[in-house]
Amino acid sequence: MQPFESRMTHVAAQFGTPLYVYDADELTRRFEHLKQLFGQHFGVSYAVKANPNVELLRRMLPHVATFDVSSYKEVERALRAGCPAERITFSGPAKRDAEIRGAVAQGVGELVLESLAEARRADYWAGELGVRQSVLIRINPSTGPRHFGVSFSGRASQFGIDDEVLEEAVDTVLGLRHLNLIGFHIYSGTNSLNPTAIAENFAIFIELFRRAAKHGDIRPEKLVFGSGFGLTYGGGDAPLDIAAVAELALPLIDDLKSDPRFAHSHCVLEMGRWLIGPAGWLLTGVVGEKHTRGVDMRLCDAGFNNHLAACGMMGTIIRRNWHMMNVSNPDAVPHKYTLVGPLCTTIDVLATDIMLPEVRVGDVIAVENSGAYGLTASPTRFISHPEPAEIVLAGNEVIDATESALNHWTDVDRTGRLRMAETSLQG
Ligand SMILES: Cc1ncc(COP(=O)(O)O)c(C=O)c1O
Repeated sequence: MQPFESRMTHVAAQFGTPLYVYDADELTRRFEHLKQLFGQHFGVSYAVKANPNVELLRRMLPHVATFDVSSYKEVERALRAGCPAERITFSGPAKRDAEIRGAVAQGVGELVLESLAEARRADYWAGELGVRQSVLIRINPSTGPRHFGVSFSGRASQFGIDDEVLEEAVDTVLGLRHLNLIGFHIYSGTNSLNPTAIAENFAIFIELFRRAAKHGDIRPEKLVFGSGFGLTYGGGDAPLDIAAVAELALPLIDDLKSDPRFAHSHCVLEMGRWLIGPAGWLLTGVVGEKHTRGVDMRLCDAGFNNHLAACGMMGTIIRRNWHMMNVSNPDAVPHKYTLVGPLCTTIDVLATDIMLPEVRVGDVIAVENSGAYGLTASPTRFISHPEPAEIVLAGNEVIDATESALNHWTDVDRTGRLRMAETSLQG
């Protein structure tokens, strides 16, 4: 058996299944690869939503400029990982007043404004706390490249301020006394495998950044480029060639920086899945077998309660089998199986007609690319199965990084209904 497979079966035996396994060394390699290609032009912002495990955040900290969070709970996670508050940016729609207040009180670097109403609320709470809060305007572009992947440009969206009203937005935010507009942010698409489309998207961002900065007559300190770097999840797609992205996109940044208005702008590449996805696996144990109407089924202890995305339920139009391995029996003759989870619904399917080396009861199946949008993007409480443990492999070390104990309520959650008085908005 190969070292990878034996390591996986070993940790599965030690911690039980289902189990999430993250490889810290692979994570470091991915950061280094990114730095080598983009490091002269960009800092990195890691989107905590992709995987908020605090042990992983701690390990990412030396490699990132910022953590982008999308809830107050994620602010807490970033802080717990040792991230200084000023290296946290807070994006996301439907921020509650208590979250805005809590984040400003913690001293987060920037709030990423998703609407003008949110800008006014942020201004109110910064005023209440007696601070001037740095902010970025998130822009929702009216156009996007063709063949990008998942793009939300040009649509009605809860994310960002429509570029049709960009000038008005800049004027409004500049007029809010307790906010300090230091730059702009765009994240308008995700999971692209197309270098040309990613570079075209950056060209669109740059046009909008120029327009906004010129209108406000500001020299942005910071510009966030939502990367959209994607991963292949099964099927025959070629992986994203990030060297090709660098070749196409970096001249655009050089050109932008040659404009004195942007000469000192710090450009940030924001991403989640590309960094951590391939450094994680879900290990699921086979608890039973069933032959039903010509189908050879294997009943696994993890289903969409533990991995919604692998079961095709996170924005996928046509469900594909993700890459999986039978780590217990890798050299056996392959057969065709349907892998189902433990939930009482026919949609709980991990793989249909997948070819795997003979799968026996007791074997462990590893689901690749599971480091991002795995455990915390899944409805783990459905049908009350126990939550998977999480471990981090680093060199020869095995670290138990299981986190359910962190899911307690804090004061910010308890005061989630905090509201500012309607009248204060009108002043
Ligand atoms: C603001 C923002 N930044 C970053 C990301 C990360 O996306 P991905 O994990 O696809 O790189 C998202 C995804 O929803 C996002 O909304």
